[in-house]
Formats: sequence, structure tokens, C-alpha cells
Amino acid sequence: MCGLNVHMTPDLNIRGFQIYERFLDIEAQTRLVSLLRAVAAKTPPFQPVLPSGKRMSVRMTSFGRLGWLANVNGYRYATHHPNGTPWPAIPDDVLAIWAAVSGVDRAPDCCLMNYYAEATKMGMHQDRDEGEFQWPVVSVTLGDDALFRMGNVTRGGATDSLWLRSGDVVVMGGDARLAYHGVDRIAFGTSPLLAKGGRLNLTMRVVASTCLPTS
Ligand code: SIN
Ligand code: FE2
Repeated sequence: MCGLNVHMTPDLNIRGFQIYERFLDIEAQTRLVSLLRAVAAKTPPFQPVLPSGKRMSVRMTSFGRLGWLANVNGYRYATHHPNGTPWPAIPDDVLAIWAAVSGVDRAPDCCLMNYYAEATKMGMHQDRDEGEFQWPVVSVTLGDDALFRMGNVTRGGATDSLWLRSGDVVVMGGDARLAYHGVDRIAFGTSPLLAKGGRLNLTMRVVASTCLPTS
């Protein structure tokens, strides 16, 4: 994919979170957004209800062999969107980002896509439903700025925050793989990338086969 930043060392390392600033140029960002919209046409973003009974403020959908689902019973990976459609494959342009920064030669199984509309956020959490944690999670920001908070492998304690901007890529590997993280808020309207404003976030993950549904 052209438009990838040529220097492959992170610009920042905060608590083991490796941040590549403006990894994607505007052309690559624009192409990716229209591609993602087209590929997800039959598997549109939806707003899950969490085990707490609260509805998430972000909308989400997935690409890949497995997609991440939440409902009142918990969290799991599944092969199909709740509407019964298999998740579409992870687009090659997205896999190219993983290949450039992940440092591993195994492809991700899941690419979760979150859409943050105005006044949405994501509480502090760990990504821990994947069954194997030696692989990094790679996150891509498209659209409005987001205040990303980075914590520790246990809940609480000191945290750092950073405004992620469109085109930024974050690699959560090593010590940061199981670190708590979240999005405090987005700065709605800071980017012209998405026609209706807001932010898309992609997170690519490797998921263990033992996490496949058995039925
Ligand atoms: C997530 O942790 O699932 C999303 C992180 C982000 O939106 O930057
Ligand atoms: Fe996460």
C-alpha cells in the first residue's frame, strides 16, 4: 500500500505503547475509509449491550475470520455478524499496516472497527478475549482526534494520555499487550475525513483457535 510512512520505528513509546504518528497520509486515509465502508456494507456497525446492561456508546463491526461480539452474557469471538452474515475478509490495505508495524509474521484473525460519533468514549479495559497474548494488537485512528488513555496491566494506578490523530497507528505488544487502555473523549469535528464527522478505530488482533465457537 502506498502512503505508508517509510520510517518503521515508533515516534513515541509510552508505557510500552508504540505510537507511529501520521503513519498513513491523507490519500491512504481517504482510500481506506471508502474501502472500509464498501466492504462493511452487509455487516454494518451496531451498538452492543454490555454484561453490565449498558449499551456501548461506540458502534462496532469486524473483518476477518473472527469478529468480536459483546452482549448481556459476556464477550466472545464469532464467525458471523449478529445479522447472520459472515464477516468480510480483512482488506489487504489494512493487513499491510499490520505487516509493517507488528513485527510478527502471522496475520491477524480479527480486525475490529469502532465508530465514535459525537460524545462517545470507551472505558478503560484490557483486550483479553483472544486466548493468546504473545501477539501485539495494532490500532489505527481515522478521523477526529481522540484522547487515548494508557494504564497498567492491573486496573487503576497512574496513567498517561495522548491525543491520537487521523493516520496514527498504535502497537500494543509486550508489556503493553494486556495493559488497560481507553478513549476518554473525541474532539468532534477536528478532522474532515469522515463525511459525518467522528472517528473510526481499527484494532487488529490474533485470536487463538481455542477461542473459536464450538457449535
Ligand atoms: C479499543 O481499545 O478497542 C479502541 C481504542 C481506540 O479507539 O483507540
Ligand atoms: Fe481495546
